[in-house]
Amino acid sequence: MIRFLTSGESHGKALVTIVEGFPSNIPISADYINHHLKRRQGGYGRSVRMKIESDSVQILSGIRFGKTLGSPISFFIENKDWINWQKVLSIEKPTGSIKKIKVPRPGHADLVGVTKYNFHDIRNSIERSSARETAARVAAGSVARKFLEHFGIQIGSYVESIGGIYSTQDYFSQLLQNKSSLGKNGWPISVKADKSLVRVLDLIQEKKIINKIKLVKKSGDTLGGTFINVATGVPVGLGSFMQYDRRLDADIAFHLMSINAVKGVEIGSGFASAEEYGSQVHDEITIDGKSFSRKTNHSGGIEGGISNGFPILLRTAMKPISTLARPLRTVDLGSMKNITSRYERSDFTAVPSCAVVAESMLAWVLAKHFLLKFGGDSLEETGDNFNSFTKKSFSRVRKGFKK
Ligand SMILES: Cc1cc2nc3c(=O)[nH]c(=O)nc-3n(C[C@H](O)[C@H](O)[C@H](O)COP(=O)(O)O)c2cc1C
Repeated sequence: MIRFLTSGESHGKALVTIVEGFPSNIPISADYINHHLKRRQGGYGRSVRMKIESDSVQILSGIRFGKTLGSPISFFIENKDWINWQKVLSIEKPTGSIKKIKVPRPGHADLVGVTKYNFHDIRNSIERSSARETAARVAAGSVARKFLEHFGIQIGSYVESIGGIYSTQDYFSQLLQNKSSLGKNGWPISVKADKSLVRVLDLIQEKKIINKIKLVKKSGDTLGGTFINVATGVPVGLGSFMQYDRRLDADIAFHLMSINAVKGVEIGSGFASAEEYGSQVHDEITIDGKSFSRKTNHSGGIEGGISNGFPILLRTAMKPISTLARPLRTVDLGSMKNITSRYERSDFTAVPSCAVVAESMLAWVLAKHFLLKFGGDSLEETGDNFNSFTKKSFSRVRKGFKK
């Protein structure tokens, strides 16, 4: 079973990730991870911090001569802004006083954090609840992604909407209908989206979104949105209906919902399917001699908690950023009086970035189920198990039913 842990405060010295359980001999480089870290930092509407921080990873262990050793892998991502925060985040008690933060921001972890952990400075809540931690997740997810690529599994994303602005072309419906060339390979979707300042596939939509972000920058507000993740090349058989916590759909939802500010995940037709007839929703099964097929992909590539070999299609909703320049009502914990909230340097929207983080979390959960199914201590051994299953599974069903 693979697992990862992250450590680090938003303005602390560094983020640290420890990744464990991958087989040996997966080729991986710091450049590969840095590319995905950079993708996480992009997007129009991010804060000035993105200009200060240009993330790059130092690999401390677990990789030799460009390949995994099978041992725990550790990553170190320096926070370049730490130099300005050394006193505020000092490990030792600093000399002199540090200004406490006493006014919790609505929609953030500020108030629940101080209440739960008995903190007397909201800074202690802010630092770890911040989405800065998602950079450490991208490092972990990059190992998973590289592993999956070896087996032809590609993961991509694009932004579907920001602030309610959608493209006139419904790309997601085309994917659900199995009609879109976007469903052929997940990665080119990301390559195309990465060319847009807000990671959309439609230039007219991009312009409208940028104008809306400009408006909220002026009015001190923020925006959320929706994004799509696609995983292609996923073999039949990841996940299981044998126990509730082994279902692939449930595990994907958990991993995506764990991302800061994510408030909803749909698999395939999701909420829309609740309003349609069964005859419109269920994907008819066909046979082409050598394999089973589906006419449509409303199920989003998962049936009964198990991948069915079709692209995994997900739509995720991110709420608007919680830190607003425009004041919202809150309480000053020092005076216990009503007051308006304070402002801390912040993004206006981070949907493009969130979609990249979601790629990493999706890669992670797919790699987990891939290794649960195929196992192996070296990449070669995993490959043998994978090839044996994918070559034989169809003929086993055919022969078994002939008897
Ligand atoms: C990539 C990314 C960047 C974010 N940037 C900010 C930000 O700059 N300011 C902010 O207030 N919230 C930001 N958020 C959202 C907060 O981290 C999140 O709303 C907060 O931790 C509370 O958690 P919850 O919204 O899941 O309840 C960001 C989230 C993501 C995924």
